[in-house]
Amino acid sequence: MYENPRLILDSSNPPEPGSITWRSPSNIALIKYWGKYGQQLPQNPSLSLTLASSCTDTMLEYAFKEEGDNGKIDLEFFFHAEPNEAFQAKTQAFLESLLPLFPFLKQLKLTIQTGNSFPHSAGIASSASGMSALALCLCSLEDALFGTLQDAGAFDRKASYIARLGSGSACRSIFSHAAVWGETPLVAGSSNEFAVPVGDQVHEMFKDFHDDILIVSQDEKTVSSRDGHALMDGNPYAEARYAQARQRLGALLDAMRTGDLATFGKIVEDEAMTLHALMMCSNPSYTLMRPNTLAILEKIRAYRAETSHPVYFTMDAGPNVHLLYPGDIVHEVRAFIEDELKELCEDGYVQQDWVGEGPEEL
Ligand code: PMV
Repeated sequence: MYENPRLILDSSNPPEPGSITWRSPSNIALIKYWGKYGQQLPQNPSLSLTLASSCTDTMLEYAFKEEGDNGKIDLEFFFHAEPNEAFQAKTQAFLESLLPLFPFLKQLKLTIQTGNSFPHSAGIASSASGMSALALCLCSLEDALFGTLQDAGAFDRKASYIARLGSGSACRSIFSHAAVWGETPLVAGSSNEFAVPVGDQVHEMFKDFHDDILIVSQDEKTVSSRDGHALMDGNPYAEARYAQARQRLGALLDAMRTGDLATFGKIVEDEAMTLHALMMCSNPSYTLMRPNTLAILEKIRAYRAETSHPVYFTMDAGPNVHLLYPGDIVHEVRAFIEDELKELCEDGYVQQDWVGEGPEEL
C-alpha cells in the first residue's frame, strides 16, 4: 500500500547529514490481539491504552553515501550505547524488508542509537515501544528528505502501518490515550493495516488512568508471541475467540464511553484470562502464568471485594500483571501494592505507568 519507487534521492543534490529522535511508549491491550494472518494482519480488532513511562528513545542518524548506493542497508546499531548483534541483525532485516517502501534507505549510511526507560530483562514488552519509535524515525526521515508526510493524519497512519510490520501491537503505540487496531464497524476509519486513535471517544477518566506493572518474573518467555500467534491457527476455539473479541470490543467501547468502570473491569479481566486460556488449550499446551501471577490475581480480587475500589488486572503474553485503576485512588492502591503485592514480585520490582499522550519527537 505504501510502495513508492519515486522516493529516491537525487545524487546531484545530496541531503546534508542529519538526525531524528523519537520517544515512543509501550501500550497495554485491553481487548487482545492474539492470532494473525498474511503479513502481520490481525484476526480480530484490539483496543489498547497508550502508556507513558515505559518507552523507547531512538535516534536515527543519516548521511548520504558519497561512494554510491550498493543496493544494501548500511547500518550501525547501538543499544544503550553498546553494539548489539542480535538487535542489529533484526533491525537490518526489517529495514531491508522495507526497501520497496523506503528505497532511499539504501542511499544512506544509517546509525541507530536506541534505549528503553525500563530494564530490558524486566519482561515488559519492548517491541511495541521499540518498533513504534523506529517507524516514527523512518517516517520523519522520509518527510525531511521528500516533504511527503506533511499531513499529521497521513504521517500517523503511515507510522502505524510501518510499526505494525515490525511488531503487530506496536501500531497502537502511535496514538495518545487509546487506540483500536483492526477493521470493525464500531470505529470509523478502522483498518487491519494500521491503528486509529479512539482517545477522544472515551470518558475523560481514561486520560488519568494508571497501569502499574507487577514484574513476577524476568525470565525469557518459554513460548514467544510469534509462536503463540501461530498456535492459534490450530486452536479449536479460534473462530469462537475471534467472534468473542469483536463482541467484547463493542461492550468495552460502550463502557469506556460512559465511564462504567465495573463493566470495563469485568471485560478487561475476562480478556486477560481468555488469552491465557487460549495458551493452555493450544497444541502443544503451555502456561506463561507463574504461581505468583495467580497469587497476585487472588489478592486483587480480595482487595476489590473488601474496599470496593475499581482496581482491575490484565496480562499480556507473559507472567506479569498489569494493575489498572483510575487516578483518584492512586494513594490507596500504591499502599496496597507496597503492603501486599510487592513481595510477590521478582526483586520487588514494579514499573509504575499511566496513560499518556503518545510519542514525542525530541
Ligand atoms: O505484537 P505482538 O506480536 O508481540 O503480540 C502482542 C500480543 C499481546 O500483547 C498478547 C496482545 C496485544 O494485543 O498486545
